[in-house]
Amino acid sequence: MDLDDLAARAAALAEADPARRVLVGLVGAPGSGKSTLARRLANRLSARGVPSVRVPMDGFHLADVALLERGLLARKGAVETFDAHGYLALLRRLRAETDHDVLAPGFERDLEQPLAASITIAPEHRVVVTEGNYLLDADEPWPDVRRELDAVWFVDLDDGRRRSRLVMRHVKHGKSREDAQAWVDDVDEPNARRVLARRDQADLVVPSP
Ligand SMILES: Nc1ncnc2c1ncn2[C@@H]1O[C@H](COP(=O)(O)OP(=O)(O)OP(=O)(O)O)[C@@H](O)[C@H]1O
Ligand SMILES: [Mg+2]
Repeated sequence: MDLDDLAARAAALAEADPARRVLVGLVGAPGSGKSTLARRLANRLSARGVPSVRVPMDGFHLADVALLERGLLARKGAVETFDAHGYLALLRRLRAETDHDVLAPGFERDLEQPLAASITIAPEHRVVVTEGNYLLDADEPWPDVRRELDAVWFVDLDDGRRRSRLVMRHVKHGKSREDAQAWVDDVDEPNARRVLARRDQADLVVPSP
């Protein structure tokens, strides 16, 4: 299952109903390669004449100011640190509002903060590739998120490589090696277990890029 196969599948969904925008979800544990694959898939689809755009669930991270109010700053990335209803509302807007641009928030990795109105979903975008940890989560309102998506694919990577990529990324963004390792063990791993427990709910399991 390579990038061309995935692009062909997404393109087929778009061709099946030319009047409707298609929403494909990529889910997977932290560091599994969702963002990388979503970017490549949207680019590949666009290159084959199906204009597509990546929309990350990460744009719905609560900002630090809101995490601080809730005592959640040390758990950034856990399911309760996302504005799930905001994300659901965006997905519904992406379905309903196809006659004007819709602006979505991104996640700024240097600031480690969401950034409003960073990503433009234009009327011509036929496929939205959205990606994040909790698209298959069982708690409300995530099952409603799942219902908005035409397909959900699970991005798979063995734990060893996944964890070392996460540590490397934390180091690249300024953490010491020890702090990065501790964050991956204490914060990212419990989230990974929660995501991995829902792997069998995916329509397809795809290898990490
Ligand atoms: N093929 C690869 N080889 C090595 N490193 C990679 C590869 N693909 C992605 N990475 C790196 O691994 C890290 C995780 O990838 P990516 O950000 O795509 O994962 P993610 O699932 O979106 O993570 P998160 O859940 O934290 O958002 C990134 O630093 C990325 O640059
Ligand atoms: Mg990501």
